[in-house]
Amino acid sequence: MPSSVNKTAVDLACRRVLILTDPGVRAAGLADLAASALGDLCAGIYDKIPPDPDLETVDQATQYAREAGADGLLSVGGGSVIDTGKGVAVTLKNGGRANDHLNLLVLDEIQTPHIVIPTTAGTGSEVTNIAVLTSHGAGRKLFIVDKFITPNAAILDPRFTMSLPGRMTVSSAMDAMTHAVEAMTSIMANRICDAQALQAIRLIAENLPAVVKDSADEEARLNLQIAATLAGWAFTMAQVGLAHAMAHTLGTVNHLPHGEACGIVLPKVMRYNVDHATAALGQVSRALGVDTTGMSGREAALAAADAIEELMRRVGHPTRLRDVGVQEDSLDIAAFHAIADTAALFNARPVNDPGDVAALYKEAY
Ligand SMILES: [Fe+2]
Repeated sequence: MPSSVNKTAVDLACRRVLILTDPGVRAAGLADLAASALGDLCAGIYDKIPPDPDLETVDQATQYAREAGADGLLSVGGGSVIDTGKGVAVTLKNGGRANDHLNLLVLDEIQTPHIVIPTTAGTGSEVTNIAVLTSHGAGRKLFIVDKFITPNAAILDPRFTMSLPGRMTVSSAMDAMTHAVEAMTSIMANRICDAQALQAIRLIAENLPAVVKDSADEEARLNLQIAATLAGWAFTMAQVGLAHAMAHTLGTVNHLPHGEACGIVLPKVMRYNVDHATAALGQVSRALGVDTTGMSGREAALAAADAIEELMRRVGHPTRLRDVGVQEDSLDIAAFHAIADTAALFNARPVNDPGDVAALYKEAY
């Protein structure tokens, strides 16, 4: 029971806190657990948040929050719920609809207080300054990016990730792994983010197999949560790269779960980057437990990609796009979308030839 949630809400001067969640998390009893921890401060539970939330999701949740007289939000869920919460925090504070607030760094004051209890260990959304929301009008995912949408508090309690199905536990962890590796190899990388990213990589490599072996291993679950949060911090500053650009497109075009898409393409992108991030990838290798003694810098860097593939095989993560329902004939057009994705701008090796990206997709097929 996260008793600290009540104290956190009091510290944030909230009197009526609305819980935001999704039907699965509600059914698992986690939203009700959070409600009882909030006690008298709970203003209700809104449990209609779908995967890949759109602007209407935010508008409907905001309307519910207004009717409930909420002055604070508690997101209990994964990235979709937390990103919706970020949108509601802004829309509830400023009025209007979510579409009015899709913007980059325009907020100039603290928004509606927002506490987060993640139920996955992957997105890092509990510490990031971005909300990803689908716009049907624009036909793609759009963003709010602003330091004022970073949640006010995040409570990491491994008991809230216990009921996550095995496949989602693994794919969420590979999302976090991809955040960490891409933060290391980004052109925006810096030594503070490196420290966060390397610790995240170590924790995932050591604890993901333990959680796969025993899903009730509380300490290993907590270590995965800490890794996801560290990786989220790292990429908030350092950004991500081509694996995310390719994964975003696989999500939009093929509806592939984000973490699975990241994991499958990550080793291919690491090899593509090998001569542009050799030292960083060598550090990744060592964080993954590879003994690089006697290897050249390039060999050590390439060993990191091999170690990621080995880890994925060990934990039962898919390693080929054909195994997760992607059609080969969709990959050429996916390459054109990926090259235009903002994440590609930060990749270690410049990405300006869609042919290169199509070749990487085909390698991953
Ligand atoms: Fe991600």
